[in-house]
Amino acid sequence: MDKTNRKVVIAGNWKMNKTPIETAELINELKPKVSQADCEVVVCVPFVDLPNASIALEGSNIKLGAQNCHFEEKGAFTGEISVPMLKSLGVEYVIIGHSERRQYFAETDETVSKKIKSALNGGLKVILCVGESLEQREAGITFELISTQIKIALAGLSENDLKNIIVAYEPIWAIGTGKTATAEQADEVCGFIRNLISQLYDEDTAKGFVIQYGGSMNAKNAEELLDKENVDGGLIGGASLKAEDFSIIVKAASEQKYV
Ligand code: 13P
Repeated sequence: MDKTNRKVVIAGNWKMNKTPIETAELINELKPKVSQADCEVVVCVPFVDLPNASIALEGSNIKLGAQNCHFEEKGAFTGEISVPMLKSLGVEYVIIGHSERRQYFAETDETVSKKIKSALNGGLKVILCVGESLEQREAGITFELISTQIKIALAGLSENDLKNIIVAYEPIWAIGTGKTATAEQADEVCGFIRNLISQLYDEDTAKGFVIQYGGSMNAKNAEELLDKENVDGGLIGGASLKAEDFSIIVKAASEQKYV
């Protein structure tokens, strides 16, 4: 399939790092380094950092993202943040279903599905995370698991909805471990996801669908991963906290040779 149909998206997931002041500092360091990027650049910062990030990003080519949202617009949900709240701060993207949320905060495929609908209704773009644990990979159920995660997450959504969704394939065993999936492993699962989108929707939708890889992507391995036919970008944790490293990944994505 022709990669030129798709835009490359490099998103930083800062996780629970950086105070509001540190956020403005990191963004100000990052802005000039990625101003020439020939790809979409996103930073997904902690909720409390969003106002400062929004101000620091003004007039730049970097888009603002959040790392979670609630599926209701408002109400008695102590400690939660809704999509309209995020929108009001200039947020364009929201990560949904990250494995850390599934693992530590009881996120299920069902809540993921509700959150995606809420985000799309509220005008946000979604980065939907899927991925298997090491035990699941070793048990040979990677494809089955990812297929279930995606089918439930996307249930009831139209081809048009899919234009505002990116899937990030993040093998849990590669997150924060320094153990990256090989470029072949990443491409294999991303290709599987594209095939699944083609079966669930149609070939054109699958051709235009953006699929990222995430899990220990860094300045050294980004080029090889991003060169793969089915890898359309990256969701980057640790390396997104260093302006220099993140900008090298953005550069690798911008210079990527289309196959
Ligand atoms: P690392 O890049 O730190 O492995 O994190 C990946 C990730 O979870 C991005 O969402």
